[in-house]
Amino acid sequence: MNNINFVSVDNIDDFAVISADFFSDFLQKNDNPLVILPTGFTPLPFYKEIVKRYKAGEKYLNKFKYLALDEYVGLCDGDYRSFSSWLGREILDPLSIDIKDRIIFDSDAADIDKECKRIDDIVSSSVINLAIIGIGENGHVGFNEPKSSFSSRTRKVFLHEKTIKANAEYWGGIDKVPKEAVTLGLANLKNAKNTLLLVYGKKKAKILKESFCAPVSEDVPSSYLQNQPNLTVIGDEDALAEIMI
Ligand code: PGA
Repeated sequence: MNNINFVSVDNIDDFAVISADFFSDFLQKNDNPLVILPTGFTPLPFYKEIVKRYKAGEKYLNKFKYLALDEYVGLCDGDYRSFSSWLGREILDPLSIDIKDRIIFDSDAADIDKECKRIDDIVSSSVINLAIIGIGENGHVGFNEPKSSFSSRTRKVFLHEKTIKANAEYWGGIDKVPKEAVTLGLANLKNAKNTLLLVYGKKKAKILKESFCAPVSEDVPSSYLQNQPNLTVIGDEDALAEIMI
């Protein structure tokens, strides 16, 4: 296992501040980096803190290019439920990130495989300077569900039952959750020069243990992180409980 920098925080305010400090420091040391940002509940306090600092005058906080991690398939441009709209609302619009600096999937592309190839070509010819990611309780990263190949690239996927359940609240019912999505692959994510994993709460403790304390396996996609260079994990004591001795 590579050296992993585990950072344990005491509460949600510290989680936001320490994650924002990490990002702020990164942006000051890297010129216009390409950055992946995650969706989900976990990064929300971090995004709020970044937006607060930007509005208070830390203007360099928008000096990055955004690369989408994943997206649902079949949503019209601007659908408020798409990940690109969600990230727009939570962080990219408040930071005034230019549209041309957002590399996002066309959810409604007529040929979704071609669309994945378009994104994969961009990713292959770029350097992902920082991948900020979350983790699902089943170990998914993006929409790389259990049994995704470690050599997988950008592609269309079918959502795992647990993921559909976890997203039901956001969609207003389990039947409304789309069944298909697109995602960067694990091979794309493994190429990131730096990775920041954000985890919060007891419900992440079990999967973190499986990710970091069991043999690397495609049954647990997030276990690729064991061999990821320059990885920082920021989490609270509950999330990190089973891996910090
Ligand atoms: P969460 O989602 O932050 O809402 O727990 C993480 C994920 O499923 O990747």
